[in-house]
Amino acid sequence: MAAHDTCVPAGKPSTVRYTRRPMSQTIGATEPAPPQLRERVFSGIQPSGASHLGNYLGAQVNYVALQDQYEAIYGIVDYHALTTVHDGAELRSLTHDMVLDLLAVGLDPDRCALIRQSDFPEHAELAWIFNTVTPVSWAERTPTYKEKKVQGVENSLGLLDYPILQAADIVIYKASRVPVGKDQAAHLELSREVVRAFNRRYAPIFPEPEPVFTEAPTVLGIDGQTKMSKSANNTIPIFAEPDEIRRLVMSMVTDPLRIKRTDPGRPEICNVCQLHRFFGSDYLEIQDGERTARTGCVDTKQLLAERIIEFFRPMREKRAKLAADPAVVEDTLAAGAVKVRPILDATMREVRAAVGVGRA
Ligand code: AMP
Ligand code: TRP
Repeated sequence: MAAHDTCVPAGKPSTVRYTRRPMSQTIGATEPAPPQLRERVFSGIQPSGASHLGNYLGAQVNYVALQDQYEAIYGIVDYHALTTVHDGAELRSLTHDMVLDLLAVGLDPDRCALIRQSDFPEHAELAWIFNTVTPVSWAERTPTYKEKKVQGVENSLGLLDYPILQAADIVIYKASRVPVGKDQAAHLELSREVVRAFNRRYAPIFPEPEPVFTEAPTVLGIDGQTKMSKSANNTIPIFAEPDEIRRLVMSMVTDPLRIKRTDPGRPEICNVCQLHRFFGSDYLEIQDGERTARTGCVDTKQLLAERIIEFFRPMREKRAKLAADPAVVEDTLAAGAVKVRPILDATMREVRAAVGVGRA
């Protein structure tokens, strides 16, 4: 057959090359879910500012502790942070910084998986499916949403949907334990309700996740009144320079009824005294000093500041070393992605099959 008899126009190659793999290899692949040897843990943290004492004592301590007992996955939840951080470059930089914070406090990429939520749009896909099993009134009951509404803030749909995405984050890995601070208890309760609603409507695919709290489930801020949080601007960032930590600790509110140095204090309501529990074994003695006015608030604060600085010194040094390596963040996230990908693919196959979306 002469060349000009073919259907291929003269001068064009006679073979077609697909750059994509055939559909049969990309859709409906059926590798089994990887075997789960240990119970799974998931937690997420928003890249919305520097890690502070509340994050550390309320959650990160447990992220580190649970790495060995469980199969642990920790996510930097940048989709969630879009509800408060509205500058793209800033969000990227905060995400990068949060990876460094988590490595510095002791997460070990060999013993856990550290991931960036937005590397897995399946989290948002599962959240959408969960939206369809969740009554609006359940989401409207969420305390954070209600508080903002009471303040007269026009809430975004994203904020209303925030806890549903959180539920998806957790159960897409079939995680049953979730190390968090007490402020997340209501979100976890809603996660369980959403999971029950899904399991009831379709198939018992998901476990009901339970929170795991530390001994400091709610750390108060430097005002001594409200929860330490980035939005309340009352934090002690754990990686701040020593002088900044000194300044912040010295500004902490103690027992408001202890006005004169000779007045006895009430250590049970003094945030400074309470925080000493976590930074030395002599905290009962310190509290006794306050109660009997043997020591003054200034002494107790100075001691706390120095102890916090010393406690976080090795982590601060580790963080500085890590930050000098431009590849460490993306390498860590890439390693995490390799570990979790098969888990979430298997879950999403089950989910799509149960609800009837995607190729059969
Ligand atoms: P966030 O910074 O809001 O993403 O919180 C990350 C983790 O730290 C979550 O598990 C929170 O529950 C926890 N957390 C944040 N602030 C506090 C606090 N003041 N006391 C205890 N846990 C906290
Ligand atoms: N809502 C959590 C917080 O503000 C962050 C979060 C998102 C999370 N997804 C999660 C926590 C899944 C635990 C599990 O702190």
